[in-house]
Amino acid sequence: MTKVPTKSAAQITAMREGGAKLVEVLKSVVELVRVGVSLTELDQLAFSRIKELGAQPSFLGYQDYPATLCTSVNNGIVHCIPNSYQLQEGDLLSIDCGLIWKGMHTDSAVSVIVGRDIHGYQPLLTAVYRALLAGTAEVAAGVTVGRISRAIEESLSLGNLTIMRQFVGHGVGEKLHEAPIIPNVVGHDKDVWLPSGSVVAIEPIAGTGGEAHGTDPDGWCARTLDGAPVAHFEHTVLVTEVGGEVLTPLDSIIQFRP
Ligand code: MF3
Ligand code: CO
Repeated sequence: MTKVPTKSAAQITAMREGGAKLVEVLKSVVELVRVGVSLTELDQLAFSRIKELGAQPSFLGYQDYPATLCTSVNNGIVHCIPNSYQLQEGDLLSIDCGLIWKGMHTDSAVSVIVGRDIHGYQPLLTAVYRALLAGTAEVAAGVTVGRISRAIEESLSLGNLTIMRQFVGHGVGEKLHEAPIIPNVVGHDKDVWLPSGSVVAIEPIAGTGGEAHGTDPDGWCARTLDGAPVAHFEHTVLVTEVGGEVLTPLDSIIQFRP
């Protein structure tokens, strides 16, 4: 059976501090998002903000990943490398970032619409964020992974969305990806229970079209084949006896009512 690592009090404090820094970084990036801004500019801002805060980027160099952010636009699902693409009105942009503070990783993602919502993507964003909140609400010491997965799955199914089942949440801490896997549908690791003091990254990813996807020639960026848009939200959550403590509170960034 999968063993879920727990963190020391000092490591938890570090992750709480790191999570707050990560929210600051994401907030700065979201504030820069507008028509005409390039993905590279967003990435450079994230890098310099992380350094200003005394932290290190988690993703840069991870399995040779070449950037600080993943910036997945429209039919980009996850892991898209920022490039010179300039954002256009109505684009759906998912921004995923991680940082290392005092040896501990935190990981968080937010999706936003660029300028006016001319393609009507807001319901998709709202539904995926709600699924994140539904999954997070299940978290407490002793909960099984399956219960978190089920809450996310049911929430997304209510919205009639397509869950990108290949992409999953995960434990997080000394490493960016730790046990257990937190799928967005009930399955893998479903009977694994979370002890108090463990930390998980919960990250629903869903779209409005088909589930079929491919990977760009760079070997990183996953995209839907039918071109349908995909949204992604992610929290790092501490498991406690009384519930989940969101270490990357995105409330100050989310511009809509969930
Ligand atoms: N948040 C992403 C995930 O958990 C982190 C990807 S790291 C990267 O999958 F190097 F692939 F970008
Ligand atoms: Co993650």
